[in-house]
Amino acid sequence: MNLPFTTHVLICTGPRCGGERQSQRVRQEFRREFVRQAVPASVKDTECICFGLCTHGPNVIVYPQGVVYSGVRPKDVAEIVREHLVGGRIVERLLLKKKPAPAETGEVTTDDLFPD
Ligand code: FES
Repeated sequence: MNLPFTTHVLICTGPRCGGERQSQRVRQEFRREFVRQAVPASVKDTECICFGLCTHGPNVIVYPQGVVYSGVRPKDVAEIVREHLVGGRIVERLLLKKKPAPAETGEVTTDDLFPD
């Protein structure tokens, strides 16, 4: 891997995470907290358009772990930066709580085939 950073924070500012759900404010708050908490330059943030997880948004994904935070509000950002990006501890309360895909469970139900 030759990326010039070690951690990548992807913030969805797509149509369903933005607007009333305020993902632009989430992004701004990440920028502020990076400065406030002296996050090293090896951590990069990037706006993204959509992860396909719209009903759970605003969504933030942290790589390389691939941790998905959902329902993130501006007031949650300081905790994500302090705990995860600086401290290396996942913020369990904000983790995406999505039903596992059929391929993950090995089971297929009619709900999997015909979601709402
Ligand atoms: S608009 Fe954010 S996941 Fe689709």
